Amino acid sequence: MKLQDKQKELIQLGSNVQEDWLAQQLDWCCQQIETNMQRYGLDFPSACATDGSYRIKPNDDWTNGFWTGMLWLAYEWTGKKLFLVRAMENIHSFQERLDKHFVLDHHDIGFLYSLSAGAGYTVTDSLLCQQQILQAADILLARFQQKGQFIQAWGKFGEPKEYRLIIDSLINLPLLFRATEISGDARYQEIAQKHYHTLLKTVIRENATTFHTYYFDPLTGEPSHGATHQGNSDESIWARGQSWAILGIPLNESYLQNNQPNGTQEVIPLTNTGFPPNYKAIVDVFLTNLPQDLVPYWDFDFNDQVPSDKDSSALAITACGLLEAEKSNAYPAAKKLAQGMVYRLGEKYSAKSETKNEGLLLHGVYAHAEGKGIDEPNLWGDYFYFEALMRLARPEWKKYW
Ligand code: GLY
Repeated sequence: MKLQDKQKELIQLGSNVQEDWLAQQLDWCCQQIETNMQRYGLDFPSACATDGSYRIKPNDDWTNGFWTGMLWLAYEWTGKKLFLVRAMENIHSFQERLDKHFVLDHHDIGFLYSLSAGAGYTVTDSLLCQQQILQAADILLARFQQKGQFIQAWGKFGEPKEYRLIIDSLINLPLLFRATEISGDARYQEIAQKHYHTLLKTVIRENATTFHTYYFDPLTGEPSHGATHQGNSDESIWARGQSWAILGIPLNESYLQNNQPNGTQEVIPLTNTGFPPNYKAIVDVFLTNLPQDLVPYWDFDFNDQVPSDKDSSALAITACGLLEAEKSNAYPAAKKLAQGMVYRLGEKYSAKSETKNEGLLLHGVYAHAEGKGIDEPNLWGDYFYFEALMRLARPEWKKYW
């Protein structure tokens, strides 16, 4: 199927998305979260499920924010106080994590704190959440490498074998923009913009496909080479990496377009939508690589002729990205395409068809080479499916990012 045929099919599928369909899916998501909440208590679900069931864990991974983010979404959709109470209990756990600096030496501070404190601040104006955003942003800021102008993703700060950024970091940057909005301190936003521009120039290849990670020379800061971490190979296109770009670019642009930091050079020439010129091509790559059922394999080395496992989470992330991009008209028919994606997920990949499954979305992949979370729900797939439904049902919904 050609790109245009896939677009047509998605748009046609999307025409099934009506108010009552969205309400039914959102009601079911909230019921599922309420049931899971009783089992997890004050603990958290693991990053991915095993046989459809999440392990119960403390607040110690990069993924805990997705659970809290779903509690906020459930509260916003239902108005039920029990979700608000548990979300605020989670906020206290996130404060403890900050106070103890517990498993925070990485860049995923945004995934953790945008969906906990960031969401809490958006929904309730809580002062505690506001302070947490700043405290968390300070930790992220401290991972900025002057040599290379990027936020180091993982490992000991400055370690040569860890001297790299990763594409997922696009979603960690909004926390910094929000920290500037709250504090008036331009440093957060300036670092976010520098990292963003370094990333656009390196991890995205000339042909609008993406590396997962990109290394720099620790002595000179010069860009060195792309490499994978969770993809099939260094040269392949990891499906979720492409989705992180499709969501991450519009999220960052939503801050940059309204608010250029003082004294920072605009190094990427933008199109008249205000987006990097290759944004449309980045989305085209994703759509072109969709298989017959329009839900991607976990890496675009695979297709219906050479099949592997699907990663439904990549489609949920892309749907949210298109809905964010739609606000700037950065991709034609973005909303209709996103509606088609959400409908396909809701009708064919939702865990509502399996009564014993704890996820919202079936058939995700965490890390294929490590055998982690293959053909299972994962927290970010669940979260972004829920967020996409919310964005469609309530266009006035204020994003947590
Ligand atoms: N951010 C890690 C992942 O997408 O698996």
